[in-house]
Amino acid sequence: MTSADKKRSAAEASLEFIEPGMILGIGTGSTVNFLIDMLPGIRNRIDRVVSSSKATTALLEERGFAVSTLNEVGDLDLYVDGADEATKRLNLVKGGGGALTREKVLAGAARRFVCIIDDSKLVGMLGKFPLPVEVLPMAQAFVSRRFVKMRANPVWRENFVTDNGNHILDVHDLAISNPLEIEDRLNRIPGILTVGLFAHRPADILLIGNDEGVRELRG
Ligand code: 5RP
Repeated sequence: MTSADKKRSAAEASLEFIEPGMILGIGTGSTVNFLIDMLPGIRNRIDRVVSSSKATTALLEERGFAVSTLNEVGDLDLYVDGADEATKRLNLVKGGGGALTREKVLAGAARRFVCIIDDSKLVGMLGKFPLPVEVLPMAQAFVSRRFVKMRANPVWRENFVTDNGNHILDVHDLAISNPLEIEDRLNRIPGILTVGLFAHRPADILLIGNDEGVRELRG
C-alpha cells in the first residue's frame, strides 16, 4: 500500500465519527484532502463546517459547502486533521503545511479531535520532523537566536507567508522528550505566535492507516 492509500483509509475511517447535526472543523493537508473529497457523500450529516486554512476553505467551497467562521458557530463537535508526527500518547507535531495556528485554535475549540495519519507518522519520540513555529516577522531573528541558545537549529521557511501574514521557522534538532514542558517553554518566548507541538491539546483519537487497514488509538 502506498502512503496515499494509507492516508485515504485513515480519512475514510474518520467518517464514522461524523454524526448527524454536527458542527465540524476541518484541518489542512493531503490526508484531510481525502476526507474533503468524501464529505459531499455525507453532506446531510453536517450542520456547519469551519476551516483551518484558506486552502481548505477553497476545497470545501468547490464542493459546495458554505464555510462558517469559528466566531459564528461557537465550539465544534468534532475536529478532524492530519499530523506530521504522532506518538502513542496522541501528542502531535503539526504545521508542515503552515496552518498550525488556526489548526490549534480549532483543536482547542473541539469537543473531540480525531487525527488521521499514515503509519510512517507514528514515532517513539517527537522531533525528527522539524518543529514548525509561527513567528511574527519582526521577531524572527530574535526567536531564532533563542532556539540556537537551546542548541536547536531554526530554519526560516523561505517564500512562505502564513494565512495570518506571519513567518514559519522549522526547528531542527530539538529534543522533545517532555512535550508538555517544551510546549510551555516555547509558548513563553515573545514573538512566537504558535508552536506546532500539540501536547496540551493532543488528539482524542488517532486513526493510523497501515497495510492491514486502520489502527485506532485513544487518549
Ligand atoms: C498542516 C498540517 C498537516 O496536518 C500536516 O502537515 C500533515 O499533512 P499531510 O496530511 O499532507 O501529510 O499540520 O499545517
